[in-house]
Amino acid sequence: MLSIGINYTQMHDSSACIVRDGELLFAVAEERLSRVKHDAGFPHRAIRACLDFAGVRADQLDEICVGWPRPHSGFVSDLKCMAMGIHPITYVNLLTTTRVFASLAHQRGGFGRFTHHFGPTRARMRFVDHHHAHAISAYAFSGFKDAAIVVADGRGAWEASSIWYGHDGALDLVEMIPWPNSLGLFYAQFTDYLGFQANADEWKVMGLAPYGEPGLDLHDFISLDHDVYRVNARALLNGSGGTSDIVKRLGPQRVPESDIEDRYKNVAYAVQDCCEQAMLGLVRHATQKTGCRNICLAGGVALNSKANGKIQASGLVDDIFVQPAASDDGVALGAALAPYLALGQRLPLTKLRQVYLGASFDDGEIEKVLRTYKIRATRLENVASTTAELLAAGKIIGWFQGRMEFGPRALGCRSILADPRDPEMNAKVNNAVKFREWWRPFAPSMLSEVADEYLEYSYDSPFMILTNPVRPEKRAVIPSVTHVDGSARPQTVHREVYPLYWQLIREFGDRTGVPVIMNTSFNLRGEAIVCTPTEAIRTFFSSGMDALVIGSFLVEK
Ligand SMILES: [Fe+2]
Repeated sequence: MLSIGINYTQMHDSSACIVRDGELLFAVAEERLSRVKHDAGFPHRAIRACLDFAGVRADQLDEICVGWPRPHSGFVSDLKCMAMGIHPITYVNLLTTTRVFASLAHQRGGFGRFTHHFGPTRARMRFVDHHHAHAISAYAFSGFKDAAIVVADGRGAWEASSIWYGHDGALDLVEMIPWPNSLGLFYAQFTDYLGFQANADEWKVMGLAPYGEPGLDLHDFISLDHDVYRVNARALLNGSGGTSDIVKRLGPQRVPESDIEDRYKNVAYAVQDCCEQAMLGLVRHATQKTGCRNICLAGGVALNSKANGKIQASGLVDDIFVQPAASDDGVALGAALAPYLALGQRLPLTKLRQVYLGASFDDGEIEKVLRTYKIRATRLENVASTTAELLAAGKIIGWFQGRMEFGPRALGCRSILADPRDPEMNAKVNNAVKFREWWRPFAPSMLSEVADEYLEYSYDSPFMILTNPVRPEKRAVIPSVTHVDGSARPQTVHREVYPLYWQLIREFGDRTGVPVIMNTSFNLRGEAIVCTPTEAIRTFFSSGMDALVIGSFLVEK
């Protein structure tokens, strides 16, 4: 079976993937190809890249699956919520839901766009319920035979959170918490209140939270008295800008890019704390309902690595898998596998060891680009060794290797690397390269063999999606990747999964005694992560990076 999975709703993070006989071949978010961050357009570039990688034409596909139901489902659900007074009836709300419905209905949920771009196809076109697609994307790649799956996001068509039970490749819905009782909505509205972009900048709130003090009560907006949280959607959605009740209760909204007063830090602390408690409650509820202590997480809220780390360390679960593309880009993965269940078969179950699922460029292609731009480059005998030498000398390196990562994190293929031992390195990378907010922490990549030595809890963390406290005695050893609360968001690197990156970190460790490096995504602030050699070169020369290691080539300034 040859299947294309698509995320497309005109909201955010359009994406596509291609699966052949249960094997995930290629996956990419549209933003990496269009260069429009969180691109919400129809992902025709991503679909083209999937087809090209697999060497097939659209008319050879068996299944084309969108990770959303038919457009009218969400529209009907929204109208019901408004009629019942759960979702405020305002001009803006009504206009927004009608506009999205009309546009998607006109495009037959995206299938009209598909045939427009790729011509007629004999493939079956399938709509997959949004949380169902999220749940499959977590369970089918977890490596668990039996698992409780928790999905939490801003919203599906009608879902806000859901609990599923996966067993032997089958997947049952256990409980659905309907929109707008949404944890994602709760977090997004406060993200907006704090002067950041909702549904995109939640990371910033999470990073800011440890700078705040406890004590602020958000009971007006979320109740945590039961295992399943209750969000007061009316209070969150009321008024212009969607924040007026928050403003009435907590004072004026923060002006974007302005200094962060202490009261905003305290709001971030309270929001993050509520999110963690709500997620812990959902997980507790899921384990009780299913009798299963292997937990899978998906949905945008599952990108909250701090909450995920708390779940892992809580004692509530035996094992945890968080879909690395937990946000809506990842529903393409679940949608592509949904036909197995629809056809009465079992899901193909695999353990996702890596997400290097995008485009790659060999040395010949890279050399051609370097020549085109007349850039002087050295071909390296030993890429890992030379790069480690430069890192140990304090250089900030652009590192472009192999296939691009799928999901929001750079995991050593499209990364900016630096020495984590230098307490000033956080500021240096921020000032020279990332130009991003001072409080956002950088993350470490470390050899899996030394994770126990550096981190409090011994669990594998290959996708930078689980926060883990750094051991107190190691915090001063890797200060630039240890957050103010002593935590880190590590990537544990396995030799058999990514030998070159493992070798680089080991070589750095041989020189410094610290087999840990700072790893942040290869992009400038507000831009999508680079995909091609041209984008890497352009970003390199637009920033304060010292050197670029691209394939086997070294470019220095
Ligand atoms: Fe979602």
